[in-house]
Amino acid sequence: MPRKSDLARTATPPASPPLPAKVRTATLARLKREGRPIVAATAYDWPSALALEEAGVDVCLVGDSLGMVVLGYESTVPVTLEEMIHHAKAVKRGLRSALLVVDLPFMSYQLGPSQALSSAGRILKETGAEAVKLEGGSEIAPMVRALKDAGVAVMGHIGLTPQSVHALGGWRIQGRGAAEARKLIASAKALEAAGAFAVVLEGIPGALAAKVTAALGIPTIGIGAGPKCGGQVQVRHDLLGALPHPAPRHAKAYASLYPSEVEALKAYAREVRASAFPTAKETPA
Ligand code: KIV
Repeated sequence: MPRKSDLARTATPPASPPLPAKVRTATLARLKREGRPIVAATAYDWPSALALEEAGVDVCLVGDSLGMVVLGYESTVPVTLEEMIHHAKAVKRGLRSALLVVDLPFMSYQLGPSQALSSAGRILKETGAEAVKLEGGSEIAPMVRALKDAGVAVMGHIGLTPQSVHALGGWRIQGRGAAEARKLIASAKALEAAGAFAVVLEGIPGALAAKVTAALGIPTIGIGAGPKCGGQVQVRHDLLGALPHPAPRHAKAYASLYPSEVEALKAYAREVRASAFPTAKETPA
């Protein structure tokens, strides 16, 4: 980092690196028009946002998967609005260009448009997020419409919606069979008509995801929905192998952070117990 006095002696100040283009909802629409896949991943804190940004991911989702991969809950149901806001604020500090989308947690919008407006308002104002994501189909269209009318950018989420895991009877693929598939396509269209700018398709057969994607003008973003979506979203901990248990079938681990972390901590513990750490190098004179 040059000091001010160094700059004063330089004829031409060093050029700062160009800022990456800010991703907006319009960018996602353009990527869809151009047939270029959207890359989305979750983040839950400042360092994970920095890494996501450095990797050039388009959309950063503070998902309520937070509850399961960071907070140790059994499902996303217990996650609160306060928890989402706390983590989204940290993520925002690490982002420059990625579009920040934050999940509205279970029961923070299902009571109706006024609850959805109040929860989304808090998320946008307190975290600096640019959009919110809501789970559900045609039944939440009134909430999506109210948010859109109030100037809030909304991402939909249909299929295997984790907040409804108990009502769905467990973690099972949705949209199998003609009636379920028709309902899912109708839901996707209802969300688009209500003003959503994109829809996450989770845990549905690949052929159905392709049909939904073709039926919509807005992009679809898949997770466990095959390659024919407008983009893909994955949970950070699944991508990085950052949990002790294996990732779900729809995920691919591109690293094995958890075993590396355990090995590093074991090495530290060994050295402390053997009085091999700290050495003179780590000791103040
Ligand atoms: O909560 C989350 O991380 C999500 C993604 C899995 C889409 O909703």
